[in-house]
Amino acid sequence: MEISQEIMDAINDQINFELYSGYIYLSMATWFEEKNLSGMAHWMEVQADEEYAHAIRFYRHIVERGGRVTMKAIEGPKTEWASAHDVFADAYKHELMVTERIYKIGDIADRLKDRSAQAMLQWFYNEQTEEEKNTMEIRDMLKMIGESMPALLQLDAKLGARPAAPAPPLESTAP
Ligand SMILES: [Fe+2]
Ligand SMILES: [Fe+2]
Repeated sequence: MEISQEIMDAINDQINFELYSGYIYLSMATWFEEKNLSGMAHWMEVQADEEYAHAIRFYRHIVERGGRVTMKAIEGPKTEWASAHDVFADAYKHELMVTERIYKIGDIADRLKDRSAQAMLQWFYNEQTEEEKNTMEIRDMLKMIGESMPALLQLDAKLGARPAAPAPPLESTAP
């Protein structure tokens, strides 16, 4: 099925939003660096890499179907937060928004009966469940930790062990 302008526009917007997401996470990473929470900074850097891989996955879908990707200006992210908890609370809220946007692309694919886009989006539905879970769990742990510095440093060490993000996929629907 030839890719429609409508789904292509929606996916192009999402490529921009994934890059914007990466930009937000990098902004969060540098905030953590400044606070000497290098484990959390590392976690955010890995997350930024993941967002780039998400953008590439959408990019490949358009390219594989003979469409045209158009790069747009990336919005400037927030740069200051009140606490580590607030950073992860924002990350969780951001992921909820990402999920909503991806579901909207799914609505378009459903209406157009675009099975190819539907198959590609399936990967993202699972990914968003994971992203929401991760950010929600860390936010909740930080809430429990409160003002306890030893507990905060322990969580920082744990998040510092997050493995590197996989390289951007060579195919839009690769597992
Ligand atoms: Fe993403
Ligand atoms: Fe994400």
